[in-house]
Amino acid sequence: MRLLLLILLLSVLCDAEVPHAMQVNSDEDLKYALFLKNPILYKEQIHQEGKALFLKRCSYCHGKDGSGQGGFAADLRRRISKESAYYTIKNGGNNFRGSFAGGMPPMIKDNSKAQSVAQYISLGMPKSHPGALVYQQTNCARCHGESGHGRKYLAPNIHNFDLKTITMILKNGKNGYIGLMQSFNYLSDEEIQIIAIYTLSLSHSHLVGE
Ligand code: HEC
Ligand code: HEC
Repeated sequence: MRLLLLILLLSVLCDAEVPHAMQVNSDEDLKYALFLKNPILYKEQIHQEGKALFLKRCSYCHGKDGSGQGGFAADLRRRISKESAYYTIKNGGNNFRGSFAGGMPPMIKDNSKAQSVAQYISLGMPKSHPGALVYQQTNCARCHGESGHGRKYLAPNIHNFDLKTITMILKNGKNGYIGLMQSFNYLSDEEIQIIAIYTLSLSHSHLVGE
């Protein structure tokens, strides 16, 4: 009788630890990721939240499905009115043929900073203009180049990395062969974790049912 109880207790405990819906033995990492939360919670909350964060913060470089993409950023040295530059900086843009799906994301919330850098561009990017500092701080150069000439930019496929690596890269950024990815350490640990789990799930969509 005692033995039976023990077995019962054990099976309840085991069940609690690894619910049936989560037995995704084919991938240790995903199991670990889902193990942090219950799988239903994952699907309904983490997944939705992760998706929203990923679309906002990652997809314009890495693509909606994380498979990576590249494109050309506009040459800012041609004549652009301040109003038009301001509009694009505030709202982003995805009009030109040749720039990839995703185009330019909205870059600057702060109106006066956006005004300043828009004026800097409309004036032909004079070095002494205060907007030069905004251009530098916001790292517009990673797509448009230091001198605004517009360059080809790429972000790699981010499938098949493990959770620890993704988390580390999100915290520290990465400056590698392809280019610079800035750190996302201004996000909360929880947001980083959610994005990392969602990123991981993009390589295993068959396991999380999307
Ligand atoms: C992720 C790459 C990326 C970043 C970062 C980026 N841009 Fe862009 N930018 C683009 C692309 C792509 C376009 C073309 C958009 C389109 O197709 O409409 C563009 C267009 C523009 C335009 C409109 C050009 C025109 O001919 O009308 C301006 C102005 C501009 N960017 C300024 C900036 C500034 C200032 C920053 C930094 C605050 C910045 N961009 C950051 C990719 C980027
Ligand atoms: C402005 C463009 C940009 C954004 C936004 C961005 N990345 Fe990156 N990411 C890059 C580039 C460029 C690299 C390649 C760095 C290198 O190795 O040269 C990279 C590398 C990575 C890598 C490592 C891939 C490898 O080949 O080593 C991961 C994982 C990653 N990014 C995840 C993310 C996630 C998740 C987000 C959203 C929170 C994100 N990135 C946002 C540009 C970006």
